[in-house]
Amino acid sequence: MNGKFTVSSYRQAKRDGRKITMLTAYDYPTAKILDEAGVDSILVGDSLGMVVLGYEDTTRVTMEDMLHHIKAVARGTKNALVVGDMPFLSYHLGRHESVRNAGRLMNEGGCKAVKLEGGQEIQDDVKAIVNAGIPVMGHLGYTPQSVNLFGGHKAQGKSLETARRIYRDALLLQQAGVFAIVLECVPYKLASFISSRLDVPTIGIGSGAGCDGQVLVTPDMLGIFRDFSPKHSKKYVDMGSAMEQAVKAYISEVRDCAFPTEKNSFTVEDEIINQLKNEN
Ligand code: KIV
Repeated sequence: MNGKFTVSSYRQAKRDGRKITMLTAYDYPTAKILDEAGVDSILVGDSLGMVVLGYEDTTRVTMEDMLHHIKAVARGTKNALVVGDMPFLSYHLGRHESVRNAGRLMNEGGCKAVKLEGGQEIQDDVKAIVNAGIPVMGHLGYTPQSVNLFGGHKAQGKSLETARRIYRDALLLQQAGVFAIVLECVPYKLASFISSRLDVPTIGIGSGAGCDGQVLVTPDMLGIFRDFSPKHSKKYVDMGSAMEQAVKAYISEVRDCAFPTEKNSFTVEDEIINQLKNEN
């Protein structure tokens, strides 16, 4: 990526047939590494709840949690487009509340766009947020905030009825003004079909290579989150094991007095220590 990636870069990438790359981040150092590596866009996802805060699902994540982490990521990002997830129930209590919460993520948090889960049922909220000048990314297919409705983590759109609904929702979201749509765990042929029918880019996670871009949860792809590994993800490096080895080495060096050495310590003139000894 050259220079800042913006909402218009999303559109341009789709027109040019250039795949968009997105990864999640929740803190300053990770955001900095992703940004310097050249990822197009960083999502401060509410996956935060599971992969950082240790909750069972994303429904416990609050606006304050999101703000705290979006601020850190925004401080670490120069070029990538930072998208902040709107947490559970922050856009279901009326348009006024939805716009206010989206505005807080942008204004206080520092992200440049927000992401909402859902289709027809949130169409008016999306329109109102976009009308307030806040770019919106949609999210269809498996939508983790509805885990209790789905009865678990399951691919969506396998029947004609659900496939039709996801396609219809994608068109409605596009009409409502979203600049891109995440398709999560949608069968790859359906995701490809939807991508070919939309003007806005689709960003897939577990939805195949026919999407216009891809997103992964960074602690999954780095092997840091080890409670479970989703079928759709790929572990590019096993940092969890590397961290465990490093911690074990530290424990044993401290116990053996092999760390710290003089190299890691500060010096003082012997005279000062002798003086202290004489005083006591
Ligand atoms: O919260 C998140 O990380 C997400 C991605 C899975 C797209 O929504």
